[in-house]
Amino acid sequence: MSVKSEFLRLLEQNKGHPISGEAVASKLNCSRAAVNKAAAKLREEGYRIDAGTNRGYMLSPGSNVLSSEGLRLYLKNPDVKLIFLPETDSTNLRAREAAGQGMPGETIIVVSRRQTLGRGRRGRSFYSPEGGIYMSILLRPEVDLATGTLLTITTAAAVCKAVEEVCGIRLSVKWVNDLYLNGLKVGGILTEAVTDFESGNIEYAIVGIGLNVFWEERDIPEDLREVAGAICTERSSFEQININALAASIVDHVLKDSGDFSVPPLYIERNIVPGHNIIVNEGQKKTKAYALSVEPDGRLMIREESGEIRLLSYGDISIQKM
Ligand code: BTN
Repeated sequence: MSVKSEFLRLLEQNKGHPISGEAVASKLNCSRAAVNKAAAKLREEGYRIDAGTNRGYMLSPGSNVLSSEGLRLYLKNPDVKLIFLPETDSTNLRAREAAGQGMPGETIIVVSRRQTLGRGRRGRSFYSPEGGIYMSILLRPEVDLATGTLLTITTAAAVCKAVEEVCGIRLSVKWVNDLYLNGLKVGGILTEAVTDFESGNIEYAIVGIGLNVFWEERDIPEDLREVAGAICTERSSFEQININALAASIVDHVLKDSGDFSVPPLYIERNIVPGHNIIVNEGQKKTKAYALSVEPDGRLMIREESGEIRLLSYGDISIQKM
């Protein structure tokens, strides 16, 4: 570990409490000048580090930067391989690349602060500026593809649990993979799987999670304003949330629940789709329907205009405004 990285770990561990330069230098076995240099680099990266004569260094309580050092402090699963990239094209793409190089059985997690090519479902892009958590978790479930689709559902529920635990905020779910707050989409899940052609079983699955944690209103592109938002839109509320603890809690919940291929009751209770007129997008075809319920197996029961009742296993729907 570099001096900068070890220093950051110490700062995150003691957030809001000063540590003397002398204590840091002795702990890290380096010179005071090296500590000072590391502090300067961290400030350049956006960390708010207070320092002054006789006061030592202190990570400001409001400094909230996603990092591998910060995340590791809160992660309950220490054995995961964590790949942290301050910026990347898409964590799903990087996880796919890592899958080929990983050890068998290894759990790989790719996390980033921003993506330049964030991918959404159906070939759409996923707007991924700074202020979000973008992560992909590589799993190797021993199930067939049909069962594996439940991963999206358990992940949506896992993210809801983490957000409630760390931020005290209740997210809703829009079948099948969207996370909502106050009528706006604040997150999404994109699960991609590579299957064994002969057995039909999943070789590995990449569960991609994008969560908009902090967006200031003025930074939201015009075309997204009506449909997308973030968990916090005020800096003061963002500073009350520990983004590293939130990211770690998401990982822990996903890892804990991903082996259980059943639909969590929370996913059904918090689904905003039943009771609405919807449009079902299947390829080029758009069908009007009424959403009746999310069934215990995760399928969406709909009534088409013809009166026909259908169960959708997966798919893309939009809710029609009343
Ligand atoms: C959707 O809303 O259509 C799904 C969005 C999924 C976005 C996440 S962000 C992390 C991971 N990397 C990606 O490129 N996409 C997923």
